[in-house]
Amino acid sequence: MRRISKSFGPSRVLREVDFQLKAGEIHALMGENGAGKSTLMKIASGLIQDFEGQILVGAQAVYLTSPRDATRAGIAMIHQELSLVPELQVDENIFLGQEKLHSLFFVDRRSQVRAAGEVLKTLDFHGPLQLPVSKLRVGEQQLVEIAKALVSKARILIMDEATSALSINETERLFQVIRRLAAEGVAVVYISHRMEEVAELAHTVTVLRDGRHIGTVPAKEANRKELIRMMVGREIQEMLAEDKDATTAAKPMLEVRNLSLEHPSPTPNRPMLVQDVNFVVGAGEVFGLGGLLGAGRTEILQILYGLHPGTSDGQILIEGTPVQVLSPLQAKAQGLALVTEDRKRDGLVLGAGIDRNIALPVMRELTHLGIVLPGREKALAQSMLRKLNIHARDIQQTTGSLSGGNQQKVVVAKCLVTKPKVFLLDEPTRGIDVGAKAEIYRLIRDLADQGLAIVLVSSELPELMLLSDRILVLREGQPTALLDRTEFSQEAILEYASPGGAIQPGFLKLEATR
Ligand SMILES: Nc1ncnc2c1ncn2[C@@H]1O[C@H](COP(=O)(O)OP(=O)(O)OP(=O)(O)O)[C@@H](O)[C@H]1O
Ligand SMILES: [Mg+2]
Repeated sequence: MRRISKSFGPSRVLREVDFQLKAGEIHALMGENGAGKSTLMKIASGLIQDFEGQILVGAQAVYLTSPRDATRAGIAMIHQELSLVPELQVDENIFLGQEKLHSLFFVDRRSQVRAAGEVLKTLDFHGPLQLPVSKLRVGEQQLVEIAKALVSKARILIMDEATSALSINETERLFQVIRRLAAEGVAVVYISHRMEEVAELAHTVTVLRDGRHIGTVPAKEANRKELIRMMVGREIQEMLAEDKDATTAAKPMLEVRNLSLEHPSPTPNRPMLVQDVNFVVGAGEVFGLGGLLGAGRTEILQILYGLHPGTSDGQILIEGTPVQVLSPLQAKAQGLALVTEDRKRDGLVLGAGIDRNIALPVMRELTHLGIVLPGREKALAQSMLRKLNIHARDIQQTTGSLSGGNQQKVVVAKCLVTKPKVFLLDEPTRGIDVGAKAEIYRLIRDLADQGLAIVLVSSELPELMLLSDRILVLREGQPTALLDRTEFSQEAILEYASPGGAIQPGFLKLEATR
């Protein structure tokens, strides 16, 4: 790609970017939220046609007037925001636009299902194929999205944060597939905020900052500090595990007794989605929930937030008082707040401005005699923008036009304005860049220091171990270990999380209290 420039209205988001991708290369593309990574790759895959500059494949200039053109040129892209058709079944999604045909008009579903199944098996996906994709969990949908790109037999494969919702095992399998493709000569662009992934996978790293090409370096020579400086433009203080003071036993803020959740289709192996979960989180404590995808971590947060009123059971106490949470409204009234991993579905009104999104939960306080006081709404939004370092043109910019990471920060801001006592965080930094991550980590710490109780779910083990004071590990809905900081290690968490793994010596479910 030569001298690529692109503007959206008045804002210039790419400035004469050169990008070179070689056959057989795994090329990581990095940069802060809003740096222009997705935009550059949308241009490469024919999704954005209106830009300046030139694209060459081989030595041939190509003009991509649609994603279909890109497919024909051997370019496939896996998008950051999933682009599947929810009502269509798995195989139909995978072969959408590239259907296998019996004859001129008839789709050959059987061979589609077979071919889809083969590709998905290499990705470790074993779910049913004749099921609308809306019924799959986010990680599974991501695998379907990946399979869709793989069946097109692309020579250039672009992956925009493809692993953000995958489990550790799924990610490992995907890496194997990527390495195999690269060995076969496929060129791979890999967009990710996860340094560990890039170090493990990439041959080459290119960094963008504010729409400019900052540098391209061999991955072996790129150390973490240097990469961060290239991305952020300055040194940032990354948060280190040592920063953490040991928390002294504080008064219990949240207590959970015998929490359970019915399984919609129980099996002998998994009779319940959540079973006999007990824990106490002190004021000022960050309590981590560890486990593989499907272990029941998200469900625990959902129960606490009143999202499973009919099917869940157990007791919830806040500051020692039993409370009823049969709806999110009740949860909020009891001082609970939830940040979810799916900002599109339950976090944000994408068409509304940042200020309105942030103010929404506390509208009543900002209203006088039924009229929103714009000054207060603005002041509130402004202070959050500053506090969380949200990059936006102004506070009225529509939330949907923010970069992914900045959208996530708005979700966090939205919860903070309700001044919760217990903060439930489900993958709070999914898709967030290193700089912003450090800010969010610091914020989580600050909130804990102010006496909030925080329950954290994160599939990034380094993050979970960095932030948590203790970690309760779950396996298939049941707790298997309670670790304190001295016992944290990736190996230990994985052992207690994996099916067939050990249970912590001496661990009794009911002892998961202090
Ligand atoms: N359709 C659009 N209309 C207006 N502005 C846009 C549009 N798409 C992207 N932008 C802006 O262009 C800039 C680059 O966005 P882009 O999505 O390429 O960033 P990114 O590097 O992929 O970030 P992230 O890591 O958060 O995914 C951002 O400032 C974003 O707000
Ligand atoms: Mg992006």
